[in-house]
Amino acid sequence: MAHLQYILVLLGMMLAITQAQVGPTIYSPAENSTIAPNQKLNINFSYQNLGTGTYTLDVSFWQDPSASQLIATVLTGSSLPSGSSSGTTIAFSMNGSVSVTAPSSLNETFYMTLTEHVSTQGNQNVSVKSMPMMLHSGAMAHLPTSLSALLLISLAVVGLSSLF
Ligand SMILES: *[C@@H]1O[C@H](CO)[C@@H](O)[C@H](O)[C@H]1NC(C)=O
Ligand SMILES: *[C@@H]1O[C@H](CO)[C@@H](O)[C@H](O)[C@H]1NC(C)=O
Ligand SMILES: *[C@@H]1O[C@H](CO)[C@@H](O)[C@H](O)[C@H]1NC(C)=O
Ligand SMILES: *[C@@H]1O[C@H](CO)[C@@H](O)[C@H](O)[C@H]1NC(C)=O
Ligand SMILES: *[C@@H]1O[C@H](CO)[C@@H](O)[C@H](O)[C@H]1NC(C)=O
Repeated sequence: MAHLQYILVLLGMMLAITQAQVGPTIYSPAENSTIAPNQKLNINFSYQNLGTGTYTLDVSFWQDPSASQLIATVLTGSSLPSGSSSGTTIAFSMNGSVSVTAPSSLNETFYMTLTEHVSTQGNQNVSVKSMPMMLHSGAMAHLPTSLSALLLISLAVVGLSSLF
């Protein structure tokens, strides 16, 4: 009896650990992509089939790789097609696609997560989060451009004023 309980607890822990890991997988954009602030972004991903139920998706942007400092959640509760637990072939995961607008303010390096919420008919709610994906805003790449533009303008002003 004590043995059985021990095994059950162990199984429960293993289930909890696997459930914590099986969040959505992001196919597109690719890791280390450059995303400008306010850019329209199509996200392709796969999400776990956890049975028939109501599936929704959240998309969040974070400052840090451990996804603790939120920049913004740009999509909340977007409906996804339901999974299924019946039929001849049960897909382990399904592909989805959403379109979002990136936050207006982004760090040079930032992170994106997708969170899948499932509410099954048995009234059990599960939420699984993707691994934070590293992305870049290209803010530093734009700086030299605007600096050289400024320099050109000031040179032009100096050139013009020397004409008069
Ligand atoms: C993204 O960049 C980081 C740091 O530069 C690097 O460690 C990582 O391997 C890159 N990932 C991909 C998929 O290129
Ligand atoms: C994203 O998925 C759509 C179909 O859902 C496909 O047409 C498109 O090519 C995909 N984009 C990428 C970058 O994989
Ligand atoms: C989901 O998308 C991935 C990458 O584009 C592709 O390899 C896979 O076959 C797709 N799966 C389904 C079920 O459409
Ligand atoms: C990201 O940007 C915010 C606002 O500019 C700043 O407060 C924060 O320290 C930055 N975080 C990182 C990790 O650079
Ligand atoms: C699951 O979510 C639904 C809808 O948000 C809610 O009505 C229900 O009470 C939740 N069930 C549990 C067990 O938290």
